Order: sequence, then structure tokens, then C-alpha cells
Amino acid sequence: MMNYKELIAKLDRNSLPNHIGVIMDGNGRWAKKNNTTRLNGHKKGAGAVREIVEASVEVGLEYLTIYAFSTENWRRSKQEVHGLLKLIMNTLMQEIDELTKNNIVVKFIGSPKGLSQSYYDQIVENCRKSWNNTGLNLNVAMNYGGRQEIVEAVQKLVSDYSINKFQAEDIDRSLIQKYLYTDNIPDPDLLIRTSGELRLSNFLIWQSAYSELWFTETLWPDFNRQEFVQAILDYQMRQRRFGAAK
Ligand code: FPP
Repeated sequence: MMNYKELIAKLDRNSLPNHIGVIMDGNGRWAKKNNTTRLNGHKKGAGAVREIVEASVEVGLEYLTIYAFSTENWRRSKQEVHGLLKLIMNTLMQEIDELTKNNIVVKFIGSPKGLSQSYYDQIVENCRKSWNNTGLNLNVAMNYGGRQEIVEAVQKLVSDYSINKFQAEDIDRSLIQKYLYTDNIPDPDLLIRTSGELRLSNFLIWQSAYSELWFTETLWPDFNRQEFVQAILDYQMRQRRFGAAK
């Protein structure tokens, strides 16, 4: 395999994806393989997040959205849920100053339902430090589920409709988009999923209608910047083939 610098040099800077979404799967299997706890798998996974965020800045990506905790993850053991939420919050608190220094804008997207008010307040309080930045937009999908997102969008939309904010015939795709958590975020061009599962698992289901999908057998804690750039290179190959076929 080529090294990171060589891979970066091969990128076509004029056809970078604007937005990459990542389903970080395989922390549990990595833990099993390495004879350690699932929580240690998630911790190692947080290290891979750091590497991928750094690579995104180096590549000049505009939007990176990572699936950190889904609305379905509440079904895991109390211990794992607690550990995962604590890891995400601690990582945010530890890293926010460095993220901010690197001109990154950090935003959490997901449902406020089920998260305690104090978690929610801490998230906003920390993320806010980065909101005047202009570099990479890092979206952390937390308590996120695509169907739940659509449910909440419909609730707000119907509520606005009932106070005559718009007429039924004004409802179109762009109006619906405005009610999603991803209002003002472009659709992902490329979705990456690790650990060999070939599913979207309720991630950005409205937004990914035209996304290119890229899968790898690598377990998330082992995912690295070389593979990340390789995914972008493969995406660029697909783009070129698409152009040639027209
Ligand atoms: C999937 O692996 C991964 C998750 C449910 C959590 C992802 C979270 C992190 C990588 C932690 C760090 C995040 C941030 C934002 C700092 P799995 O547990 O489903 O793995 P398995 O399918 O092998 O069991």
C-alpha cells in the first residue's frame, strides 16, 4: 500500500467530495479480537476518530459527519450505554479547544429526546466555542436515527402548518430538508462504513439518496488515514467513470 503522503498527492483537489459520512462500526468485534472490554474498543475507536478528523483537515474536506450514537444504541447494556455517552462527552470536553484552534466547527445532530438536559447543555456549551470558525464542519450524530429525524421534522412541519406558515402545496423537498437536523448541511457525497456490514442502519437516510457508498472489512479502531484517503480516491474514480459513460 502507498503511504499517506503519496495517496494525498494523488487526490484531485477539484473533485473532492464536499461531505463524507462515516458509520464507525466494529468496535465490539475489535475488542473481542483483542481480548478486551467493549468499552476499550470504543476508546480505541475514539483514537481513529481523531486521525480521520486530522486527515479531513489536511485534505480540505468541508463536512464530515460521524455516527457516534444511534437511537437504537439505547438497547445495549446499561454499562455500555453509560460508558459510550461518557466517552463521547469526555472526548468533546477534552478536544474542543484543539478542534477550535484548528478552525473546525463542531455540531451535534440528533434527537434531544432521551438525552438528559445536562448532557444537552454541556454539548451546546462546548460546541459553541467553535461556531465562529470557517474550516471543516464536524458533525457528530448523537442520539441520531434517520427515521426519528423524519418523525421530528413532520411534527414541526405540521405544527408550523397549523399556524398557517405555509400551504400544503408549498411542501416540497427543499422545505422538508429545512426541518431536518441537517438544515444547512449539504447531502453527503460519500458514505463510508467499516467492519464489513453492508447497511445504512438508519444513518442519514433522507440525505444519502444519491451518496456513493464505500465499504471496508477493517474494524473501526483499525481504520486509518491511508484508508480514508483511499476511499476518497475510489470515490473520484467512480465520478470519472460516471462522466465517461454519459
Ligand atoms: C459501532 O461499533 C460503534 C459505535 C456504536 C460507537 C461509535 C463510537 C465511537 C467510535 C466513540 C468515539 C466517538 C466520538 C465522537 C469521540 P459496535 O460496538 O457496534 O461494534 P460491533 O458491531 O463489532 O459490536
